[in-house]
Amino acid sequence: TGDVTYDPGFANTAACESSVTYIDGDNGILRYRGYPIEQLARHSSFLEVAYLLIYGELPDAATLEAFLRRIQRHRLLHEDFKAFFTAFPHDGHPMAILQAGVAGLATYYEDTLDPHDLEKLDRALVLLLAKMPTMISYIAKRAAGLPLLYPDSQRGYTEDFIRMTFGMPYQAYDIDPALVRALDMLLILHADHEQNCSTSTVRLVGSSDANLYASVASGIGALAGPKHGGANEAVLRMLNDIVDRGISVQEYVDKVKNKEDGVRLMGFGHRVYKSYDPRAAIVKDSAHDVLTRLGKNDQKLDIAMELEEIALNDEYFVQRRLYPNVDFYTGLIYSAMGFPTKMFTPLFALGRLPGWIAQYREMIIDPQTRIGRPRQVYIGEVERDYVPLRARK
Ligand code: CMC
Repeated sequence: TGDVTYDPGFANTAACESSVTYIDGDNGILRYRGYPIEQLARHSSFLEVAYLLIYGELPDAATLEAFLRRIQRHRLLHEDFKAFFTAFPHDGHPMAILQAGVAGLATYYEDTLDPHDLEKLDRALVLLLAKMPTMISYIAKRAAGLPLLYPDSQRGYTEDFIRMTFGMPYQAYDIDPALVRALDMLLILHADHEQNCSTSTVRLVGSSDANLYASVASGIGALAGPKHGGANEAVLRMLNDIVDRGISVQEYVDKVKNKEDGVRLMGFGHRVYKSYDPRAAIVKDSAHDVLTRLGKNDQKLDIAMELEEIALNDEYFVQRRLYPNVDFYTGLIYSAMGFPTKMFTPLFALGRLPGWIAQYREMIIDPQTRIGRPRQVYIGEVERDYVPLRARK
């Protein structure tokens, strides 16, 4: 391969140095800025984790308060922007609309686009964190043909996101704090995962000095794929499929093992984790809690647990070191909370947003950053002469 190294899928190539997230895939360890994910999931809040990821340290009380207030102030979307949400078919995929919407934010905030002006970048990241939940709730409301709600500055970030997604105008909306906490924790679990496909995309696009909105929009495009964030939606479709067709879990696992129609066990396997994904363990516990709290006896949770049990004891999965990943149980929780299946991946995008921002910012201030430009191994034709149309066979 001459002077280049061939590494399909970048399985073994580090493209940056980073101090944001540490993963030890063999031992199932995940830490944000050194803090174990289990501790953050239990004690922290999503926006505190966002601050930690972006700026590197846990904020003191006054700093956190100021950060929350800044985000709170910017949660409204420009009124003109509402027309944007009605320009797509109401049942168009939310990830496509979200990607376009995030890219389009750049047109409203042109004075925040220069990434090398860190004050402007700070404003851009606050605007994105503030407006993304509003956008996602608008997409959900529009899909259901229901009225859009304005943000309520008296409510917390995650709580108000739930209210804007499910509430109605002029009607009180009381939310079980335990459910708010459960969603907040899921957002924390998704907040960063070092150089995964969407984050690498954000960095690659941003390495050309493309603005934060354009770079994050590209990340949303990458996240939408079923091998990445789209897996949470695919897991629920898989569980529904097993129920609808009335096949046994063992039959389904056999299909996967025989690679029939290329089916994979969705929510299983990971490029880096070759043991249990620590996030999956936390989500599994939470799924039990939330479903019990909501009094939902979901047959699909039983099927998911049976799938996990069979797979973890099957030679095919053991040999390939395939374990449940974060996406395996999340869909069951989102579904119990009332989110339609198509909204699952936007929830992942909201969770991953702080990670994309932190990695983009780290890339921008890293003096070693050069424009991302992978090489290739050319395997096409050698030089040949053009053949006029009438002389071609
Ligand atoms: N079900 C069945 N077989 C699998 C699976 C699976 N979920 N995942 C990997 N394999 C097999 C694969 O067929 C291959 O076997 P063989 O050597 O016989 O061809 C072997 O395991 C290695 O797979 P790979 O595709 O080379 O592994 P990768 O590191 O390139 O892919 C992955 C990682 C996550 C894309 C893959 O495991 C997968 O497609 N999983 C299902 C989708 C999913 O749950 N994605 C979410 C990932 S975690 C959160 C996120 O990033 O969004």
